[in-house]
Amino acid sequence: MRNMKNKSNIVLIGFMGCGKSTIGKELAKKIKYSFIDSDEEIEKSIGISISDFFAKYGEVKFRKLEEKVISQIAAKNNLVIATGGGVIKNFNNIFSLKSGGIIIYLKAAPMTIFKNVKNDNTRPLLNTNNKLETIKSLLNERAPLYERAADFIVNTDNKSINEIISNILDYIRG
Ligand code: S3P
Repeated sequence: MRNMKNKSNIVLIGFMGCGKSTIGKELAKKIKYSFIDSDEEIEKSIGISISDFFAKYGEVKFRKLEEKVISQIAAKNNLVIATGGGVIKNFNNIFSLKSGGIIIYLKAAPMTIFKNVKNDNTRPLLNTNNKLETIKSLLNERAPLYERAADFIVNTDNKSINEIISNILDYIRG
């Protein structure tokens, strides 16, 4: 890769349901990198689902765990990393991910996100009685954080997985 500027990881950030894991897996396959999903690593380390963890211990404890797992993952090399949607809430996460990685924001409109998560109950922060409104207000709050953290932004609305991946590769290959 020509344009990696000594950074060896490709880090995907973005709101819940924007496709970080799906895109990340395909991208990793294509460029022969390993893929790692920080939420999966968290679940492995706690032995229960993120929903159950939120219900039992709350968000603050989850964020502490997330910070620990992110710092471990960020120290590795040659990975495509899919992060949880709230990773940008903690600057330490962005600092450690940026030290070894290029950060790509998969930007999606509330309706795109809604379509992807409407039948999903595994995301505790979206288990409200109006999912679309929750998405809109959380995204409103977080959008500046995603944009500030990103080295590159890909608009994903109405794009196929292949188009999104080729946008990412065009940027990385420079
Ligand atoms: C969260 C996003 C989730 C997961 C947790 C909190 C968030 O990950 O980390 O439920 O605060 O946006 P995904 O973005 O993979 O759904």
